[in-house]
Amino acid sequence: MSQLEIDGLHMSFPGRRGIAPQHVLRGVDLQVGQGEFVSLIGHSGCGKSTLLNVVAGLLRPNSGRVLVGGQPVTAPGPDRAMVFQNYSLLPRLSLLANVREAARSANPQAPRERIDETVERYLSAVGLWEHRNKRPRQVSGGMQQRTAVARAFAVGPRILLLDEPFGALDALTRARLQEQLLELWANESTTETVLMVTHGIDEAILLADRIVVMGNPPQPSIVDIIPVELPRPRDRVTVIDDPAYRQVQQRLLDLLHADQQAVA
Ligand SMILES: Nc1ncnc2c1ncn2[C@@H]1O[C@H](COP(=O)(O)OP(=O)(O)OP(=O)(O)O)[C@@H](O)[C@H]1O
Ligand SMILES: [Mg+2]
Repeated sequence: MSQLEIDGLHMSFPGRRGIAPQHVLRGVDLQVGQGEFVSLIGHSGCGKSTLLNVVAGLLRPNSGRVLVGGQPVTAPGPDRAMVFQNYSLLPRLSLLANVREAARSANPQAPRERIDETVERYLSAVGLWEHRNKRPRQVSGGMQQRTAVARAFAVGPRILLLDEPFGALDALTRARLQEQLLELWANESTTETVLMVTHGIDEAILLADRIVVMGNPPQPSIVDIIPVELPRPRDRVTVIDDPAYRQVQQRLLDLLHADQQAVA
């Protein structure tokens, strides 16, 4: 059984003042196995965030369903944690309190010491333990995003939903965060399955087991699903010389370029 199963999702947003309704998700089917890292890639506006929001239970689809561990999703729950496209920390709380609040509300029965341990573990894993008492506005964008990642892991979700978590970061910070994310996913946590939206072709290939390419009309919502058969751990410097890397890269370039022509 897939850990995450998406069946026949349709989602439209109503039109207003002469703007036609938008059929954003046009029959999305996707199965994600336990332990899989899946990336979603596609041009702006093709429905990546909408799909993630439906899986998170924040948006209701017009039709179709999402199953997590065989159970239908009807609302947000602690089995799924989301890192949003824009930083979404609570501004009045310290980094520590931001992570602790999320851990506590997801595990209300857990003893305090266990929550404290969890919070320390994930804030340390993203290198922010020293900065734990600062507020979000006192730290950089990258540090806020690392806090958001720590917060998501501290919830102890089975599925992690990441919406372009590193989009706004410089290349070096992004590389470091990618490493931290992979380490957490592989070693540190109970979180097995990741669904991550990205704009970056290289980021998708470096991180994912499979890449879901999404399209704008008149293309279908899912244009293609490309397996990435590169052994892990992947070294960002040497992996790009692997023929399998170049093949996937070329396929993605072709698909995304074709999509652009469809829009023009
Ligand atoms: N709440 C909403 N009401 C109306 N239209 C919406 C709403 N949310 C999204 N849309 C529209 O649905 C389409 C898909 O939006 P979505 O945010 O899912 O795109 P995206 O692929 O995440 O884009 P980006 O890469 O820019 O983040 C867009 O055209 C957007 O304008
Ligand atoms: Mg988006």
